[in-house]
Amino acid sequence: MERYVIKGGNPLVGEVEIGGAKNAALAILAAATMTDETVYIDNMPDASDTNAMLKAIESIGAYVERTGRHSVKINASQIRSYSIENDYIKKIRAGYYLLGALLGKYKQAGVALPGGCHIGLRPIDQHIKGFTALGAKVTIQGIIKAEAEQLVGKHIYLDVVSVGATINIMMAAAMAEGKTIIENAAKEPHVVDVANFLNSMGANIKGAGTDVIRIRGVEKLHGTEYTIIPDQIEAGTFMLAAAATMGDVTVKNVIPKHLESISAKLVEMGCQIHESDDAVRVVATRRLQNTHIKTLPYPGYPTDMQPQITVALGLASGISIVTESIFESRFKYVDELTRMGANIKVEGSTAIIEGVERYTGATVSAPDLRAGAALVIAALTAEGYSTVEEIKYIERGYEDFDIKLRELGAQIEKVDDDRDVQKFKLKHA
Ligand code: EPZ
Repeated sequence: MERYVIKGGNPLVGEVEIGGAKNAALAILAAATMTDETVYIDNMPDASDTNAMLKAIESIGAYVERTGRHSVKINASQIRSYSIENDYIKKIRAGYYLLGALLGKYKQAGVALPGGCHIGLRPIDQHIKGFTALGAKVTIQGIIKAEAEQLVGKHIYLDVVSVGATINIMMAAAMAEGKTIIENAAKEPHVVDVANFLNSMGANIKGAGTDVIRIRGVEKLHGTEYTIIPDQIEAGTFMLAAAATMGDVTVKNVIPKHLESISAKLVEMGCQIHESDDAVRVVATRRLQNTHIKTLPYPGYPTDMQPQITVALGLASGISIVTESIFESRFKYVDELTRMGANIKVEGSTAIIEGVERYTGATVSAPDLRAGAALVIAALTAEGYSTVEEIKYIERGYEDFDIKLRELGAQIEKVDDDRDVQKFKLKHA
């Protein structure tokens, strides 16, 4: 089984190019099935979740061609099935975006219940509430089905701020009759990106990025050429890796505004942040200081950056408190981190962190995508060798994570078995 073997201790130094946003890409791929015309998408990350979504839309009849590592051409005029329950779709949580997309265009959709990272209960009641309000009948029997004679725009108030529900309702409403208003909508950059993508196909969506989105349904969507925004979380992960290793890293091809909540916390922790138009440089020259964090919907501090900052705070002076308010089981990695010497107590949704001087190398297992990346950061700072197992989770959302880290000076390799681990240790003795 593939794993990363890491020798810690090197500060990360240099520049790293950030790819397209995975969570925008997943929804945009579903939305690409809403037109019979050809769609060209650029800045598509080559991660296992986006690749599974490409396979999923291909399996229902869409023509998919990778025109480059990060560009794809899609034509969905020959879609032959509105129901999808194969392994590709079961692997990813974002498979549910095909519900909104196919329901919007074909007025019928069926998708196997969503998979994805095990970070909490992750209900989809708000998606269902939205589809139902638009006039669909939704049933769940292993697979979720939604169908409607006709979709009619409605005023929908979301009970919780949900990225997935906001995007899903937006897609279905884009081709409904009349006007839909989504109140208490999610404001994440990828919500805006999906709205921009749909608008570039002829949809009429206003207000994305605020908490009220207004959608006037159109009869037809057309082809487009579109470039996905940079991945806020990939960028943030490298920023935290720079801080934790006492490094100096410039993350390039980013939108600094999307990173403000992360930059602000790094400043509180004693790092220097230098922003330019499309890059952010993080410099850490002295031991990090403690701070307190609560994860919140955008523009608050993102839940997808919670494990990475907890790892960094585990090395900071003083006591830090991190409160996870979005997902209830997002501290599972703390047990692994404790085995590397961290002093963290989790009480419900709060982690109380007493910073230690240093982590020590250990064999740890990634419990989910972002926690996996965070354990790699811990290993990069640790004394000695570490092995991070279950890297399939990390590869769901990070393209070439090990290669990009190596280019910044990290001693990390992806290996297959124990013999390779020994070889790595000899090479880096
Ligand atoms: C998206 O998940 C992302 N996934 C997650 O990224 C991210 O952590 C999350 O948004 C929050 O930013 C994708 O885009 C594929 P939500 P999603 O609906 O849409 C509750 C990563 O690491 N809720 O915004 O599933 C829910 O339980 C991943 O890349 C309901 O109660 O998240 C949670 O507490 C992991 N009912 C909160 O809302 C619903 O119907 C926010 O969830 C829907 C959600």
